[in-house]
Amino acid sequence: MRLRLNTTLNRQNKTDNQRRNLVMYETSQSSKTAVCPRFGLCYGELRTPHPTERTPMKKLLYIDSCVLRETSNTRKIADAVVANLQQTGEYVTEQLVLEKLDLRPFTSETLAHRNQLRHAENYDDAMFDLAHQFAEADVIVVAAPFWDGSYPALLKVYLEHISVTGIVNRYTDHGPVGQCRGQKLYYVTTRGGLATDEQDLGWQNIKALCHVYGIDQAECISVNGTDIPTTNVEQAVADAIASIPERIGR
Ligand SMILES: Cc1cc2nc3c(=O)[nH]c(=O)nc-3n(C[C@H](O)[C@H](O)[C@H](O)COP(=O)(O)O)c2cc1C
Repeated sequence: MRLRLNTTLNRQNKTDNQRRNLVMYETSQSSKTAVCPRFGLCYGELRTPHPTERTPMKKLLYIDSCVLRETSNTRKIADAVVANLQQTGEYVTEQLVLEKLDLRPFTSETLAHRNQLRHAENYDDAMFDLAHQFAEADVIVVAAPFWDGSYPALLKVYLEHISVTGIVNRYTDHGPVGQCRGQKLYYVTTRGGLATDEQDLGWQNIKALCHVYGIDQAECISVNGTDIPTTNVEQAVADAIASIPERIGR
C-alpha cells in the first residue's frame, strides 16, 4: 500500500517529545524564528523562549471526501470551518483529499496482512499511518456530500483503514474503550433533498463511530435542498459559512 503521505506521517516512529519538537520547529520556521528542534531554545539569542515557543500546536485533521471538487458545496463549507479553526492560531493542519489517496477496500489478502500485523502488535507498519494520524488529531473536520442516504464509499474505505483496534480504541474487560486524542469532530454535508440529520445514515454512522473512537463531541453542519430548483443554493451556503464562527465557539 502506498500510504506514506508526507513527512508528518513519517514521524510515527518518533517519540512524543521528538514529534512535539518537530512541530514546534516547523511552526517557528514558518514564522522565521530559528528554534533548536531538540531543546526549544532560540539560536543566537540570549533570552528565555517565549512560552508559545514551548507549546506544541494542536493538530487539525481535515478529511475531505468530496468529489467534483471545483463545484462541491460541501467542500466550500468545510473549507470555511477549517479556515475559521486555523484563524485561532492553535492548530497545524493536515488535509487528506481522499480521492487522491488511492485507498482500496480490504481484500482477503490485505485484511489477512493487517490482522497479522495487529496480532503481532506491529503498529509501526505504513499500513497504520492513517490510523495513527487520526488518533493523534485534536480536532477533526470531515467533508462528505450526502450520497444515497449516506456518505461516499471513499469515506467508508478510509474509515475501514483507520479503524484499527490497538490504535483508535482497545478492548478491556468492560468492553471497547476509545483512545483517540480528539475531543471534537465536525461533520460537514450538503444534501440534494430534504433529509434531516436524523435521517442521514452517514452522519448517524459517524456519530456512532466517534463514540467507539473516544471522541466526545461530534457536530453536524448541514445544508439541505441543494438540488431543489427553488433553493437559493449560493445563499444557503453563504448562510452556513456565516454561522461557523458561532458554531465553533469563536
Ligand atoms: C452519487 C450521488 C448520490 C446522491 N444521493 C442523494 C440522496 O440519496 N439524497 C439526496 O437528497 N441527494 C443525493 N444526491 C445529491 C447530493 O446530496 C447533493 O447534490 C449535494 O449537495 C452534493 O454535494 P457537493 O456539492 O458537495 O458535491 C446525490 C448526489 C450524487 C452525486
